[in-house]
Amino acid sequence: VLRHIEVPADRVGYDVFYGRGVLQRLPEVISSLGCLGTIVVCTDVNVESLHADTVLALLRGAGVKTALWSMPAGEQFKTLDSARETYDWLSRESIERVDTILALGGGVIGDLAGFVAATYLRGLRLIHVPTTLVAQVDSALGGKVAVDLSAGKNLVGAFYQPAAVVADTDLLGSLPDCEWRAGLAEVIKHGIIRDTGLLELLERDRRRVLGRDDPAAMAGLVARAAGVKIDIVEEDPFERGTRRILNYGHTLGHAIEREAGYGAVRHGFAVAWGMAAAARIGAHIGTCDSSFVAWQDHLLNDYGLLIALPRLSADSLLAATAWDKKSANRRIHWVLPIGRGHVTVTADVSDAAVRSAAEWIADRSGSGIPG
Ligand SMILES: NC(=O)c1ccc[n+]([C@@H]2O[C@H](COP(=O)([O-])OP(=O)(O)OC[C@H]3O[C@@H](n4cnc5c(N)ncnc54)[C@H](O)[C@@H]3O)[C@@H](O)[C@H]2O)c1
Ligand SMILES: [Zn+2]
Repeated sequence: VLRHIEVPADRVGYDVFYGRGVLQRLPEVISSLGCLGTIVVCTDVNVESLHADTVLALLRGAGVKTALWSMPAGEQFKTLDSARETYDWLSRESIERVDTILALGGGVIGDLAGFVAATYLRGLRLIHVPTTLVAQVDSALGGKVAVDLSAGKNLVGAFYQPAAVVADTDLLGSLPDCEWRAGLAEVIKHGIIRDTGLLELLERDRRRVLGRDDPAAMAGLVARAAGVKIDIVEEDPFERGTRRILNYGHTLGHAIEREAGYGAVRHGFAVAWGMAAAARIGAHIGTCDSSFVAWQDHLLNDYGLLIALPRLSADSLLAATAWDKKSANRRIHWVLPIGRGHVTVTADVSDAAVRSAAEWIADRSGSGIPG
């Protein structure tokens, strides 16, 4: 067990298992949770072909009844339509309140299967088995589940805590390089908002981190980055304050994802551009200085995260931020850097500062080189 997360307001807590080979402990985890009914493994076609057999065999070996539901892969399927198809299938399979949803996949599956678990029959037990770096350090932790609308990302969702999170870092071995890199954007984000030690590790060990050739070191990196998220969601489980800092880079990042068309630019790369732009807003209004902007650009470029973007206009990016769900009373809460390891949240940002950051992105978009 890496950590035990308590959410007193929900009167729940859950164990988070991290490290190499922890998947083998799945039978022990489900028996300690008292999962009596069917375990429905929800996954996508990519993860199904790589890891579903292992998970199903482990569950069956433990004498558990299983079912498998597999969806097409990609952000463009994180929709109410996919949720509806899943509900219909669950009802045809006669899934009941005693049954459990096991989300096996990246953030898309975790958010979608989690949303289905939160709502089907008013709630089924949920176990996260995250298989991407994004999911292991970020989306499987903290209980946010959601689907996208065409108006914006994650606009329909809930806070729904899992019963357990089992994050086996060995599963990351099959991740394509670009997914690994996209996940490193969230790891860098965690360093910038809270953990200078993590930043030092990322700067010092860039080759090893990008090369993924030392599984034990990678497991350490993942656990450290996940630890940042765990600390923050424990402090503020329902995002009333501190937790907003996790959205660093996400306001313009989400705008990029939406304007490019969901699935066209990976979440992590969009967030990297969003962080680069947020730092410019920070320098513009004075939360940080230009040396921070340069340092962060350097780190993001060293990790190959500021990839080529399809043509985007500043106006469309600005219009898309207006839909950002974090805007309250039409004011966007901007998460802006102060320096390494520290950010601040403010709604007091001039339109000129935001416009120039959106123009900075737009000016660099449309070069056509795929990332
Ligand atoms: N709920 C939250 O708090 C939270 C936090 C961060 C991100 N998110 C959401 O997470 C989503 C992004 O997640 P993601 O980056 O994991 O994307 P993803 O789920 O689309 O996975 C990326 C790709 O990797 C494949 N894949 C997954 N595991 C694999 C493995 N082990 N080996 C090989 N291929 C594998 C998938 O099939 C997919 O094609 C976004 O929708 C974002 O909004 C949610
Ligand atoms: Zn994110």
